[in-house]
Amino acid sequence: MTVDLLLGLQWGDEGKGKIVDVLTSKYDIIARFQGGPNAGHTLEFDGIKHVLRTIPSGIFHANSVNIIGNGVVMDPVVFQKELEGLEKFNMDVKSKLLISRKAHLILPTHRLLDAASEASKGKAKIGSTLKGIGPTYMDKTGRNGIRIGDIELADFKERYRSLADKHEAMISFYDVDLQYDLKELEDEFFASIEVLKTLTFIDSEEYLNQAIKAGKSILCEGAQGSLLDIDFGTYPFVTSSNTTAAGACTGLGIAPNKVKEVFGIFKAYTTRVGSGPFPTELFDEDGQTMARVGNEFGSVTGRARRCGWLDLVALKYAVQVNGVTALYMMKGDVLSGFKTLKICTAYRYKGEKISHFPYNIEPENVEPIYQEMKGWQADLTGMTSYNELPQELKTYIEFIEKELEVPIKVVSVGPDRKQTILR
Ligand code: GDP
Ligand code: IMO
Ligand code: MG
Repeated sequence: MTVDLLLGLQWGDEGKGKIVDVLTSKYDIIARFQGGPNAGHTLEFDGIKHVLRTIPSGIFHANSVNIIGNGVVMDPVVFQKELEGLEKFNMDVKSKLLISRKAHLILPTHRLLDAASEASKGKAKIGSTLKGIGPTYMDKTGRNGIRIGDIELADFKERYRSLADKHEAMISFYDVDLQYDLKELEDEFFASIEVLKTLTFIDSEEYLNQAIKAGKSILCEGAQGSLLDIDFGTYPFVTSSNTTAAGACTGLGIAPNKVKEVFGIFKAYTTRVGSGPFPTELFDEDGQTMARVGNEFGSVTGRARRCGWLDLVALKYAVQVNGVTALYMMKGDVLSGFKTLKICTAYRYKGEKISHFPYNIEPENVEPIYQEMKGWQADLTGMTSYNELPQELKTYIEFIEKELEVPIKVVSVGPDRKQTILR
């Protein structure tokens, strides 16, 4: 029996999907614990590239069960498209995908509320993916939400109507010009609910705890990243769930003392999509090179990701909040060709040098202090063993693990499943 967690340590898009796929063969169950279709988890193998949104990244393996946990928010319309996208792979998705009755439903009006809220914020907008995530979690904590299990109730449509009507009144409260045809959105929604009903709904906390008792191994898959956590992220420029380790316990009903390893995934540099502070952000040619070589465009919205140097102050904070036991460094290949690399090891905060992640990290408060490192020129993408890696990269890796006091166990050198070096 083992329960391990895998989560992102930065602002999302660290490469979680790829690593879950790589690790799945070691686990009986892959369980997503929070977030929703704001996530885009990319998997590449056999020349195929696939982006998953709410479906766990273990779905391509024949023998693993995939669970969408109670902490997830599901949009049936997006989910239907996800299922359709998997049809060409000729897998029996329905027999190995189980959905928690306690997961909350994203209604079309949640998406509209997200759009209205963002439009009303003007320049202060969060840069949300506009998938209805914030409004759905608001209804969850406000105790107004509709859950997957409610679909099975006789009065599901009345519950829907009552909440959607309330949302319409809320939308009119915003002073924004939002054009929409609710009838059309509802037809699409109810058609996708029929598709959703063909899947198996379970009491997932019971299922998972019985699985633990039976000695099964479980990998819990996080979405977003620790710096987007509702409590510990760069609030208010965050998502609306706990993306950190604690979120796996609340999002699946697994007790903390059952969790063994916490795998923390990070890019060898930093990216962020959407608004909010980013101390090591680059506005020069180096940042443009990272964006170009790393193909840094959002897998959900296609927006350009902001790029910058690795920030060890932020990473140390994420390692601490999550109790990370092993680090996975992604996209090392993107840094090939830089003459000099920089790593942020401390902040100048209101004139003082600090090494912890403070309350205010806006540019007027924080200035990164860098350690310069020698870059490497070799192309890493065909390398298959740690020994082959250039010495400068090994020095980069050893520096990071010494600072973070956690070993880097995997170095990823390309998007494909095979481009993964175990140490
Ligand atoms: P996730 O949300 O954490 O699953 O990450 P995304 O899929 O949104 O973004 C990661 C992107 O980087 C995807 O396009 C991956 O295919 C790609 N990727 C993952 N690992 C590597 C790597 O080691 N090198 C390169 N060049 N690309 C990678
Ligand atoms: P994965 O799982 C990167 C960002 C959005 C925005 C903020 C709030 O693929 O790593 P939301 O739609 O949640 O209201 O957006 O969070 N964001 C992500 N950034 N990767 C993600 O997921 C993200 N999910 C949300 O860009 O800044
Ligand atoms: Mg992503």
